[in-house]
Amino acid sequence: MEAIYLDHAATTPVHPEVIHEMTEQLQENFGNPSSIHSYGRKARQVLDQARRIAAKSINATEKEIVFTSGGTEADNLALIGTAYANKENGNHIITTKIEHHATIHTAEYLEKQGFNVTYLDVDKNGVVDLDELKQALTDQTILVSIMMVNNETGVIQPIAEIGKILADHQAYLHTDAVQAYGMNPIDVKDMQIDLLTVSSHKINGPKGLGFLYVGKDVTLHALQHGGEQERKRRPGTENVASIAGFRKAIEIAQSKREEHFKTYEDYQSHFLKTLEEEAVSFSINGAESDRVPTIVNISFPGTNVESLLMNFDLSGVAASSGSACTAGSVEPSHVLSAMHSEENPCTTNSIRFSFGYANNKDNVIEAAKKVAAIVKRLTTL
Ligand SMILES: Cc1ncc(COP(=O)(O)O)c(C=O)c1O
Repeated sequence: MEAIYLDHAATTPVHPEVIHEMTEQLQENFGNPSSIHSYGRKARQVLDQARRIAAKSINATEKEIVFTSGGTEADNLALIGTAYANKENGNHIITTKIEHHATIHTAEYLEKQGFNVTYLDVDKNGVVDLDELKQALTDQTILVSIMMVNNETGVIQPIAEIGKILADHQAYLHTDAVQAYGMNPIDVKDMQIDLLTVSSHKINGPKGLGFLYVGKDVTLHALQHGGEQERKRRPGTENVASIAGFRKAIEIAQSKREEHFKTYEDYQSHFLKTLEEEAVSFSINGAESDRVPTIVNISFPGTNVESLLMNFDLSGVAASSGSACTAGSVEPSHVLSAMHSEENPCTTNSIRFSFGYANNKDNVIEAAKKVAAIVKRLTTL
């Protein structure tokens, strides 16, 4: 039995061209990019090229890209780095109740350091209320951090509109675009974004790598000290081979973005159609919102997440109950709790299926049939 991977929002398989690129770099380009000799210069070229391509992908400039160890570090750097650097201008931060823990736990840390944080609600479709945002803004607000696409539901947030709201306000706009990048077109200038997080392993690149876009007018304190790398914003010898692999993954994600969008949209519709044909009762969390095609979060009434996931796994279907960081735990999803209420059964009977490179039409349909059989067997209504 070949397992079927439907957990691309947790991580994605590394693209063969990325593996090829990284292997070549590891074998032939071991120099330290900070060295002035030819070995160093050769490694430096790899970084420069990757930075150029990363910047172009979001309409930024090279100086505005800071390579990090991934989405978590980029979110930490965005929040802590700007909070400390701008505390003279105010001590208020706004974020939402549905952010990834990389943002929520960082905001909680900042609360302990004396900052005030407002956690905005979302409606039942998982979208942040812009009037609530406007009301929450004060002359003390220095940062608004709202994700572009939610990692549990795939729901898209109105970032460009938020950019307009903040245009005349001192607060920076940070968006975690980890689940949006490669699916939604992103233009940081048009959308008036000051800081933006991307992670490599969600787009078929290597793990442990990402970047933070830091607009040229943003003041930010580094969280690490000890070197000049990344213009002192993230010192430490760069992970050259992984950065080369990330560059390749970005090139593929950019050049095939529309094709991928359409393909994953098809996968999601085949998956849902098969569940309907198999007469399973289900509802989609965030059904009425704009969502990315890669993620669908489905509530199966009368079931429970733990036994569903265990049985899916036994039948060879890999899915998850929400963010990978909380997978394995049966605590109600904080995202679904914010959309409904903590007592709503959907917070403990919903599964996230996420589509990508490891899928094709056949394995998506086969997975849906297995899911349907298990759901029918386990439903106790
Ligand atoms: C929305 C979002 N932000 C941040 C992260 C963390 O990224 P990384 O795994 O690269 O640290 C994830 C990973 O699940 C995510 O989905």
